[in-house]
Amino acid sequence: MEQLINQIAALKASIEAFSEQDAEAYRIKFLGSKGLVKALMGEMKNVAAENKKDAGQLLNEFKIFAEAKYESLKATDTGAAGQQINEADLSLPGDLLPLGSRHPISLVKNRIVSIFQRLGFAVAEGPEVEDDWHNFSALNLPENHPARDMQDTFYIAQNPDWLLRTHTSSVQVREMEKGKLPIRIICPGRVYRNETISARAHCFFHQVEGLYIAENVSFADLKQTLYFFVQEMFGKDVKVRFRPSYFPFTEPSAEMDISCLICGGDGCNVCKHTGWVEILGCGMVHPNVLNNCGIDSNKYTGFAFGMGIERITMLKYQIKDLRLFSENDVRFLRQFTGTI
Ligand code: DAH
Repeated sequence: MEQLINQIAALKASIEAFSEQDAEAYRIKFLGSKGLVKALMGEMKNVAAENKKDAGQLLNEFKIFAEAKYESLKATDTGAAGQQINEADLSLPGDLLPLGSRHPISLVKNRIVSIFQRLGFAVAEGPEVEDDWHNFSALNLPENHPARDMQDTFYIAQNPDWLLRTHTSSVQVREMEKGKLPIRIICPGRVYRNETISARAHCFFHQVEGLYIAENVSFADLKQTLYFFVQEMFGKDVKVRFRPSYFPFTEPSAEMDISCLICGGDGCNVCKHTGWVEILGCGMVHPNVLNNCGIDSNKYTGFAFGMGIERITMLKYQIKDLRLFSENDVRFLRQFTGTI
C-alpha cells in the first residue's frame, strides 16, 4: 500500500511537471492504453485484500486529477482548438439577416424616370423649401390665385416668402433660369399641401414633372411622349384621352385620362362608372412663363406635364388608401418586393 502511495505521488509530480502545451502528447504518455496512469491502475492486483478499498479510492481520485490536467491542456492547446474549427463546416450558409426593400413609391418613381430617360429626358431636382417666385410667380400664378391660399400652402413662419413647394413645377423654373437650351428634363420629388389627411389626400405626396423646351415643340410631341409613357407603364391595351383643362402655367392645357385598369372601360367604382381615370395635367408652356425665365417665347416653345406618383401607384396596384404609403406597415410594404 505504501508503495502504491509513493508511486501515485511520483506520477502526480511528473504530471504537474509536464510543461508541454501538447494535449495529445500528454494523453498518449499518461492516459493512453499503454500510458503511465493505466500502468499504475494495474498495481491494484498487488495490493493486499484489506487495503483494496482505500487503494481503489486513491487511484480513482488520482485518475480524476490526471484527466482534469488533460481537459485543461485541451482548452489551451491551440493545436487542438484549431482542429475543432477544422471540424466545423465552414461552407454552411450564415443566418440570414432580415432585409428591407424599396418603398413602392420609390419603385414606381424609378420606373417612371427610366421610361422618360429612354426618350432622352435627364433627371433634375430642386429644393423642397421654395420661394414664392419659383413655386408661384414665375409660373404665371397671379397674386390672388386660389392655389396661393393659406389653405393649400405651408408657409415658413420666419419668412413669408418661403414655403414648402406645392408642386414640382418649381423645378421647371430653376432649370429654365439656367438658360441652357434645349431642355428635356424629368423632375421627381416630394411636395406638400395643407390638406386634411384621408384615404384620398395627404399633406405630403410625390410628383414627377416633365419639361421639354426647344424650337418647334408642338402639342403633337406632347401627346406622343405621354402616349409612349402610358403604354410602357400600363401596357399596350390601355387607351388615353386628353381633355381641355386650365393651368396658369400652360396654354393650351389638358388633363390626360387612361382607360380604367379595373374594368377595362366598362365602368366601375374606381372610374366612377365613366370608364376613364385622370392621371396627369399637361400643356404647352405659357409664353409668360418662358419670358419670366429669360427664354425668348418667339423662338422657343415647349410642353410640360405633372403627375402624382401615389396616384399612378394606386391605379397600377389597386391600392385604395393613400395613408398606407406613409404608415410604414411592413405587411403592406413587403408585397412590393421584386414586383415593380
Ligand atoms: N403642377 C400641377 C399640379 O401640381 C401639375 C401640372 C399640370 C404640371 C400641368 C404641369 C402642367 O407641368 O403642365 O397639380
